[in-house]
Amino acid sequence: MDQDDAMLHEARKALMQARRIVVFTGAGMSAESGVPTFRDALTGLWARFSAEALATPEAFARDPALVWGWYEWRRARVRAAQPNAGHRAIAAFAAHRAADDGGCVTVVTQNVDDLHERAGTPAAVHLHGSLFAPRCSACAAPGAFAEADPLEPEDGRHLEPPHCAHCGGTIRPGVVWFGEGLPEAAWAAASAALGDCDLVLCVGTSALVYPAAALPERAVRAGALLVQVNPGRTAFDALARFNLRGSAATVLPALLCG
Ligand code: APR
Repeated sequence: MDQDDAMLHEARKALMQARRIVVFTGAGMSAESGVPTFRDALTGLWARFSAEALATPEAFARDPALVWGWYEWRRARVRAAQPNAGHRAIAAFAAHRAADDGGCVTVVTQNVDDLHERAGTPAAVHLHGSLFAPRCSACAAPGAFAEADPLEPEDGRHLEPPHCAHCGGTIRPGVVWFGEGLPEAAWAAASAALGDCDLVLCVGTSALVYPAAALPERAVRAGALLVQVNPGRTAFDALARFNLRGSAATVLPALLCG
C-alpha cells in the first residue's frame, strides 16, 4: 500500500466512525462536469471583466443587461452539464447512511449550480444562492426567466432582465454577490450542521471566501475532523487531518463507495 492508499484507507475509517458528517463543496466539485470555476478567466463578451467586477449589486445597477446576460450564459452552461462521479458518490453515500441508520450526511455547497440535486442529493444547502432562483430586486418576489431554454451564443450576449409580475421591478439573479449577506435560512442550516458534526469533508474549495470558509474552521475548533479532497493546496491544508490530493470525480467514489 503506498502513502496515498494508506491515507485514503485511514480517511475511510474516519468516515465510517463518524455519525454526523457535513460535505462542504466549492467550484472544484463541478469542474469535471465542465462548469467553469468562478475564477476561470472570463471569455467572449466578458473577457475584459473580472468575475469580482461583475458579481456585485453595483455592476447590476450600472449595466443590468451585461450582468443578466452573464448569468443566463452561466445557467445555460450548467443546464448542459451533468453531475459527475463525485456528485453521485456523495448522494449514494448519504442515501446508504440514511438507509442503514448510519448517521446523517448534510451537503453544504458554495456552488450556484444544481448538480448535487440532479445527482440525487435533494436538500443541499446553498450558501451562495442558486442560478435557478431569480427574484425581484425591489420586492424580492420569486421571478421567472423570460425564455424557457435560452440558446446562449458561445461568446455571450447582452440580455435585458425580465420584470417582476407583482411590482414591475427588475428581476435579478438569485445568487449572493460580493458585499451582500448570505441567505438567512441557508446560513442557519449550515451553521447548525457544521456546529454539530464529527467530520467535515471539504471538496474543491479554495477556502478563501468568507464567511463560508469560517464554518469548517469553526467545526474543527469544536473538535470535528477535516478531510479534504483537492488536487491543489488550499487554505484548509493545515487544518485537515487528511489531505487527499486528487480530483472530486476520482477520489470521492474511492473514498465513499470503494
Ligand atoms: N476536483 C476537486 N477540486 C478541484 C478540481 C477538481 N476536479 N478542480 C479544481 N479544484 C479546486 C481548486 O484547486 C481550487 O482549490 O477547486 C478550488 C476552486 O476554488 P475557487 O474557484 O476559489 O472556488 P470556491 O472555493 O468555490 O470559491 C468560493 O467564491 O467567488 C465566490 O461565490 C463564489 O462560491 C464561490 C466562492
